[in-house]
Amino acid sequence: MYQIGRILKTIREERSFQILDVQDQTGIDSSQLSRIETGKRLPTVEQLTRLSTLYRVDNSLLQIQRESDKIIGSIEDPAIGIISLDVAKEKLIYGHNYINMFMDSHLSQPIAISSRRYIGSKAKLIDWIFEKIEEQTENVHSFCDIFAGTGVVANEAVRRYDHVIINDLLYSNNVIYNAFFAAGEWDKNKLCDIITGYNAIDPTKLDDNYFSINFGGKFFERNESKRIGFIRQDIEDRKKDLTEKEYNILIATLIYNIDKIANTLGHYEAYIQKPIQPKPLYLKLIDVNCYPNVDIHRADSNQLARQVTCDVVYIDPPYNSRQYSRFYHLYETLVKWDMPILSGVAMKPPIENMSDYCSSKAAKAMKDLVCSIRARYIVVSYNNTYKSKSSSSENKITLEELENILREVGETVVFEHNHRAFNAGKTEFANHKELLFVTRVNE
Ligand SMILES: C[S@@+](CC[C@H](N)C(=O)[O-])C[C@H]1O[C@@H](n2cnc3c(N)ncnc32)[C@H](O)[C@@H]1O
Repeated sequence: MYQIGRILKTIREERSFQILDVQDQTGIDSSQLSRIETGKRLPTVEQLTRLSTLYRVDNSLLQIQRESDKIIGSIEDPAIGIISLDVAKEKLIYGHNYINMFMDSHLSQPIAISSRRYIGSKAKLIDWIFEKIEEQTENVHSFCDIFAGTGVVANEAVRRYDHVIINDLLYSNNVIYNAFFAAGEWDKNKLCDIITGYNAIDPTKLDDNYFSINFGGKFFERNESKRIGFIRQDIEDRKKDLTEKEYNILIATLIYNIDKIANTLGHYEAYIQKPIQPKPLYLKLIDVNCYPNVDIHRADSNQLARQVTCDVVYIDPPYNSRQYSRFYHLYETLVKWDMPILSGVAMKPPIENMSDYCSSKAAKAMKDLVCSIRARYIVVSYNNTYKSKSSSSENKITLEELENILREVGETVVFEHNHRAFNAGKTEFANHKELLFVTRVNE
């Protein structure tokens, strides 16, 4: 039984029309009209428009009644139907984004710390690295990841050891560690609401901002770059209403999600010189943890080494002249949000946080680090020099230099792993091997 019929009959009677009058004036057959009025069939959109004109009633009001009758007529199980109506409403409102929202709230995992493109990330080597560390060490309670990068090694260490020290020079990495690891109050529902709001923004309606002016049409599609800049400013504006943990989570969430739509090969030294395919930014929360046993630093490794005492120090420095602060400058700018004047094709900020490990001082710095840190075991990741087309890809510390440095402090065992590294450039990795040095430091 369609209820629109009863509504139409009531209006007709109020207007004192006979069915045949209506037939004459609308061209709708009288037998069809009575089937409509008795709720046995639905009027078509066209028929309803003619009737609303004749009866002088708001056509859209009647069309809504018709559409809802149609929906109800297709429901097979009323209990499921009522819930499905709410879902259908959300599908209509959110369009393509609905599926993402559904996956996030019901089926998907939050974004893992390893889900990031980062040169030198050991994400794929974690099992092997810890297998060797466990094999070669005993009585380990404290672990220091002194060049932590993405933090994937620290992420494994926090699950295994009582105390973990995490360090990197970059501001962006520091925010990420605080978001993924640090202890602190945070409210998941509050952040999910904020993120849902960000996802609902129509970027075409936004004005240009610092981020879109500098990076739009280069590293990100123009409209999405407006959304990114808008979100970053909004996080700043909300800072007073967020805990420190919540603030860091929102920024880290932004970094992890924009990495997925960036027009790059995984770093910000350059962008792809082709028209950018629009990919909407859809933020998904990162996998937040709160560990009571972590200490997070943003310090130069060699300065921190003088203050650290631990059982194992894991050393994974840059291997070549490519400075991480320059490769990931866009995240540094996004995190610091002090809006410096940017320059060059890649829109980099003024130079900051340059590492000795990317220069001819690398071997000296490594020797200083190894000799100054108080650790029972030193574990160093290193990859063999590969035949490289560019001199910037050549290792700054030779294998021999590294072996000599470690020999000075203890006994070393070396492990080798064939590994296809995340490269992001055109450099060829011929026989690329990942090496792990585990040194038992002399008493
Ligand atoms: C090879 S990456 C580390 C990768 C990391 N193990 C991972 O799995 O993601 C080297 C890191 O060292 C950091 N770095 C470079 N020089 C540094 C220094 N002097 N002190 C602290 N961190 C430094 C860089 O920012 C970069 O994140």
